[in-house]
Amino acid sequence: MSRFAHPAGDRHAEVLPEDRPPHAPADLNSIDPVIWPRTSERIAGSLTIGGLDVRDLAKEFGTPLYVLDEHDFRARAVDFRQAFHDGEVHYAGKAFLCREVARWIMQEGLGLDVCSAGELAVALSVGFPPDRITMHGNNKSIAELEKAVTVGVGHVVVDSFEEIARLGYLAEKHGARPKVLIRVTVGVEAHTHEFIATAHDDQKFGLSLSSGAAAEAARRILAMPSLELVGLHSHIGSQITDTAGFEVAARRLATLLVQIRDEHGVELPELDLGGGYGIPYVDGDESPDMKVIADALREIVSTVCRGKGLPVPRLTVEPGRSIVGTAGVTLYEVGTVKDVEGLRTYVSVDGGMSDNVRTALYGADYTARLASRESTAQPMLSRLVGKHCESGDIVVRDLYLPADLVPGDLIAVAGTGAYCRSLASNYNYLPKPAVVAVAGGKARVIVARETEEDLLRGQL
Ligand code: LLP
Repeated sequence: MSRFAHPAGDRHAEVLPEDRPPHAPADLNSIDPVIWPRTSERIAGSLTIGGLDVRDLAKEFGTPLYVLDEHDFRARAVDFRQAFHDGEVHYAGKAFLCREVARWIMQEGLGLDVCSAGELAVALSVGFPPDRITMHGNNKSIAELEKAVTVGVGHVVVDSFEEIARLGYLAEKHGARPKVLIRVTVGVEAHTHEFIATAHDDQKFGLSLSSGAAAEAARRILAMPSLELVGLHSHIGSQITDTAGFEVAARRLATLLVQIRDEHGVELPELDLGGGYGIPYVDGDESPDMKVIADALREIVSTVCRGKGLPVPRLTVEPGRSIVGTAGVTLYEVGTVKDVEGLRTYVSVDGGMSDNVRTALYGADYTARLASRESTAQPMLSRLVGKHCESGDIVVRDLYLPADLVPGDLIAVAGTGAYCRSLASNYNYLPKPAVVAVAGGKARVIVARETEEDLLRGQL
């Protein structure tokens, strides 16, 4: 069969992997506390989050709506801080960042990772202390590097030889001496989607350990008086649920620490193992315990370093998804319910791939529930789809919803706190939904819904 064509027809969406054969959940109304935000419950049939009924949220703020459980977010941030009490936790802003979330992170005593001037601007706009910010990116512009140097970010993670030269020059120009980590490609295959695995050799990030590029980067940085080399960084991928990959990464980084000590007489004090901790999206997914992971990582790093006669470096981690992912839920209103004879029912909602592209992009899977009422109807094999002009516009590929579903019902999708609003687009000129923070029975808009005026702004 041609690589460039495939038969059209009823199985078009089979482009998405079928690794989760659908089965109806025992209870279509259940709200699994592992998958949904910590304050969620069904009260008198309706889903409530942060003490607020989703029907009231939809009425007041419209749909689609991103609902963020502030208590859940803050509690997970604190869990991380406590689990890594002797290290540093930097929230990875790319998962979801806005001014209010930056304040929460600041108040809970975490640091922040940014990977663009825009993310840095959000943080600085609320007075986030620059020395608690790490700047990432495989192709930071001169302007981004200069901004990082002049505001005095705590760390810059260098990703290429060009960047070492640029940063060295800019630091000297401004009389600064930024702390630098080397992004090392440790050659680990993380068991996750190819597009979100980042530490195998054949990809764009970092400087390879095996080729000697990372050691050469250390040589160049140490030769630059305007840069202070403080440690090594690795990020092996995202949505990882076991510690084996981190263990291999830590061992390999430790060999480079030894090499740097032997060659230059320098003992680097910091090791940043990145983020990537997975969260449960659907029934049966693992729910990693941060304390267990923290203890395992600490043990691995100290064993490896002690074994090589190195002082144990200070450990930093950079969780994004595992702090914000489960705190977020997307609320949609059902618009049409179309039974495709003999196949399934297509339930169309008022958003789609513009507010959650993860299903189309990574074959991601989600849990969704009828949220505005309870139902005792039979399970109906469904596909939850959006309103975009694309058949790949799928929110949940295979799921069961109650057979009495009607237009006007509200559907909630769990686990959309991470990489949904931040990857959102205006495809088909849909305005991006608002983000509402809920806590203690009160709701606040923390990011306003876009308007038609926003969509037209800046056009001739
Ligand atoms: N640190 C670095 C250097 C990273 O590149 C990332 C994510 C993180 C930390 C945070 O990883 P997390 O803990 O959130 O897994 N858009 C994809 C995920 C891309 C992750 C990019 N880097 C998705 O929706 O699954």
